[in-house]
Amino acid sequence: MRLNLKIWRQVDRDTPGRLEEYTAADVSPDMSFLEMLDVVNEGLVRQGKDAIAFDSDCREGICGMCGLVVNGIAHGPDRGTTVCQLHMRRFKDGDTITIEPWRAKAFPVVKDLVVDRSAFDRVIAAGGYVSVNCGGAPDGNAIPISKDLSEAAMDSAACIGCGACVAACKNASAHLFMSAKISHLALLPQGRPERGSRVVAMIEQADTEGFGSCSNEGECEAVCPKEIRISNIARMTREYVKALFAARD
Ligand code: SF4
Ligand code: FES
Repeated sequence: MRLNLKIWRQVDRDTPGRLEEYTAADVSPDMSFLEMLDVVNEGLVRQGKDAIAFDSDCREGICGMCGLVVNGIAHGPDRGTTVCQLHMRRFKDGDTITIEPWRAKAFPVVKDLVVDRSAFDRVIAAGGYVSVNCGGAPDGNAIPISKDLSEAAMDSAACIGCGACVAACKNASAHLFMSAKISHLALLPQGRPERGSRVVAMIEQADTEGFGSCSNEGECEAVCPKEIRISNIARMTREYVKALFAARD
């Protein structure tokens, strides 16, 4: 296949960026999307030009490092799929593909398609620990947990922190990400002691970082590569309201 690419190029955080046009020739349908970009970069480097910067690590859909907006959709057109697991067979010879970084105030562009997602780390650090009693107290894992609860907690824990939910949301809200973290801890007995302080601290930190609020658009759920359910946001809101009433009382 021969593809026309429009790729966002930006030297650094403070320099305005622009879409630049490239041609990707001899693209195999079996290539992953990132492998296609690797080939484009090899060509640029051979010509002595600056390679296109983009993030990736595992390339297996598990680490959350990759993140590109492909033709306006975070992680591209396949549901439940990270962009590193997107394959070129999804496109046709002659297609034009526009590739942009996550766009959110809290995720400033570092270079080209790479954004700074350390705001997520600070949200997690604000509320993401559990205290465990030692000594004579029973081991946390010895506490029986129903299958429904453990599966719901596990589904929430599948979030890889990629940030696609923020990129897809018109409010740049981090609610799906936060609600996944809050749910997986609040559903299990080990996470209950700090459930109130955790949800308040994380939401306050997200506000400080510049993430928006939630207006139930559902775009986050639609693009999430781990298919985190929007019902987690309802659980987070319940946890938050309960925590505020408990603090008042
Ligand atoms: S909720 Fe989904 S889209 Fe958002 S950070 Fe987690 S895995 Fe990525
Ligand atoms: S590179 Fe790890 S999830 Fe895509």
